[in-house]
Amino acid sequence: MSVEAKSFPVSFDALEQEAKEKMSTGAYGYVRSAASNEETLRKNAKGFEKLAIVPRMLRNVAAVDMSVTIGGRTYPYPIFLAPVGMQRLTHEEGELASARAAAAIGVPFTQSTVSSYALEEVKQATGDSPKWFQLYWSRNAEVSYSMVDRAEKAGYEAVVLTVDTVMTGWRETDLSTNFSPLKLGFGKANYEYDSVFMAALQAKDEESIIQSVLENIHYPELNWSHVAELKKRTSLPIYIKGILHPEDAILAIENGVDGIIVSNHGGRQLDGIISAIDALPTIVQAVDGTIPVLFDSGIRRGTDVVKALALGAKAVFIGRPFIYGLSVGGQAGVEKVLENYIEETKITMSLAGISKASDLLSLKLIRE
Ligand SMILES: Cc1cc2nc3c(=O)[nH]c(=O)nc-3n(C[C@H](O)[C@H](O)[C@H](O)COP(=O)(O)O)c2cc1C
Repeated sequence: MSVEAKSFPVSFDALEQEAKEKMSTGAYGYVRSAASNEETLRKNAKGFEKLAIVPRMLRNVAAVDMSVTIGGRTYPYPIFLAPVGMQRLTHEEGELASARAAAAIGVPFTQSTVSSYALEEVKQATGDSPKWFQLYWSRNAEVSYSMVDRAEKAGYEAVVLTVDTVMTGWRETDLSTNFSPLKLGFGKANYEYDSVFMAALQAKDEESIIQSVLENIHYPELNWSHVAELKKRTSLPIYIKGILHPEDAILAIENGVDGIIVSNHGGRQLDGIISAIDALPTIVQAVDGTIPVLFDSGIRRGTDVVKALALGAKAVFIGRPFIYGLSVGGQAGVEKVLENYIEETKITMSLAGISKASDLLSLKLIRE
């Protein structure tokens, strides 16, 4: 570890502040900001504050088991790294560093379609540690199938199909700094590695590659028939990321998906919408135990992890906090962030009288 435990920022705010000093104005703005008036970004955090744990005492919490079983696989902690694109914006080693950190701690890594390193490179850097692949549907559907096929061959365990990003949200910070990391080429590695994508290009220079990435990634035509078709094309389990309405959760089940990730993309896509934590109970109720429900958007500490699990999420994804850790300390920084989340989650469970993550549903929460 090159990061001194003593000097490493512990709170989210301190971490964000230190990351700000490391990053360019454009990159920091891109990571921190959200869509439109950033109402949903703020609501995500406030949603957690409104929920209060009612702890139980005298329950012998000497041994805490944080493991969770999702889709037949057991993971040591209820924590994943969220798919975050273009991580070389933050640190030269980008996804290689964060995936290595996830592997070292025992947390699954979710790789974005628009990563700075290809999924095969991440696999090579991390061996058999658990990894999921996040798919942004491509206008050329054969590119989508090809990427999923490559992920399966490289040993990725699941596909996360993100459905809230058929176009980019109205991000005023990026518009005012005129900053687009996709246009700067930070997110093209998985495309350059893809023989189907490359074969469809007339010219293979960098500008043509980036132009074609942009044409492929924004696909407002996306609908449930694509989900059903993807299900036929892969044997990997499919998790749909970005579900907020209970009726969409039912449609997801009807279209054969294996899990749901309740998320509003950290407020980056559509503003003025429900906070993810307020949406979670309605989705859990609609799904009624048929498929696992996972969660992200607004997790800033271990108490948030516990609250999300108490509302029925099987696990949560950490987003911006690990990106800040990456910027502050590379692989060691991401490890430190994960260690802090795990430790605070463990302490929260213990002090609330719950010794198994799988028992967190029995924890009482009230709205204040
Ligand atoms: C800089 C940045 C890039 C992101 N890139 C992706 C992406 O490529 N694919 C995706 O599905 N979600 C992406 N997300 C959304 C995250 O997966 C996650 O939903 C979000 O960060 C959760 O909100 P939080 O960071 O406020 O906790 C990105 C988020 C950030 C902050």
